[in-house]
Amino acid sequence: STPLRLGIAGLGTVGIGVVRMVRQHARLLQNRCGREIAISAVSARTRDKDRGVNISSYAWEDDPVALATRDDVDVFVELMGGSDGPAKAATEAALAAGKDVVTANKAMLAVHGQLLAGLAEDHGRALRYEAAVAGGIPVIKSLGEGLAGNEITRVMGVMNGTCNYILTRMEHTGQGYNALFDEANALGYLEADPQLDVGGIDAAHKLAILSALAFGTRVDFDGVEIEGIEKVTLADIRHAADMGYRIKLLGVTQMTGRGLEQRMAPCLVPAQSPLGQLEGGTNMVVIEGSDVGQIVLRGAGAGEGPTASAVMGDICDIARGLRLPVFGQPAATLATAPRASAAVP
Ligand code: HSE
Repeated sequence: STPLRLGIAGLGTVGIGVVRMVRQHARLLQNRCGREIAISAVSARTRDKDRGVNISSYAWEDDPVALATRDDVDVFVELMGGSDGPAKAATEAALAAGKDVVTANKAMLAVHGQLLAGLAEDHGRALRYEAAVAGGIPVIKSLGEGLAGNEITRVMGVMNGTCNYILTRMEHTGQGYNALFDEANALGYLEADPQLDVGGIDAAHKLAILSALAFGTRVDFDGVEIEGIEKVTLADIRHAADMGYRIKLLGVTQMTGRGLEQRMAPCLVPAQSPLGQLEGGTNMVVIEGSDVGQIVLRGAGAGEGPTASAVMGDICDIARGLRLPVFGQPAATLATAPRASAAVP
């Protein structure tokens, strides 16, 4: 069999994680996927930089669009980030050139998911994005495949590890939001634009993607009501604890009689519930299905290993020939749901 040849754009934490996994698990991947997984070429903002792994055996492209359309690339692996700009241009170019795409780019899918899904399906290609939501937790596969026979009634979860880190550190150390924002920053947890994390936007991107998969609706990021964690005080946290609750940046998406309700905001959750027991930088997604009941998925939502793990799972699916509709059903059949605003402020 012929190798599946990757072109990887973006050699940050996740990109390097994928390079490492391809090398370290070469044999296992060959056994599981039925063919060799090989890296043909890479691109990143800077070429000469110590990344801890030697990338000199791969062809180099300065331009991700050139990388995405190379003849020796079967799968374009987009790990640059950003909703527009080079990530979107290269993803479109790859699909138009008949390449499959694997991406970790939640912002791009939240904003342009409909367009890109249509493009992928028109060209008969895969566009897979397990790593875009909740890092290493296989939530996209769970909703799109394992639970495909259910009517999904609600999805909720903690989908930004940085916010959960800050909130749980506020509880455990008694330090205020500002001090712990600085701590998270020093640890390198925050996105390049920290407002994406603490403003709830990153988590809202993820929620909008899950809504489309759960309810068969067009991705509607603008329909997510968003409130970040900046205004959560130590007093809020103490009062919540006195009543047996913890404060989590919780995303909830559900189909109501009035339409789709998507909300990302600091919420009280019972301390004894699964969501209430979530610590540190972890993520949790709770899915409720008509027939399966409630499912709780917990794991690392960020970081090199967990995110690369999700990317590799997608690559294996493509190697095995799996080409599912991007949002669980053909993009052209996704419904436009009316927006239901959450009842109480
Ligand atoms: N900034 C994100 C988080 C990274 O903290 O969860 C993973 O998407």
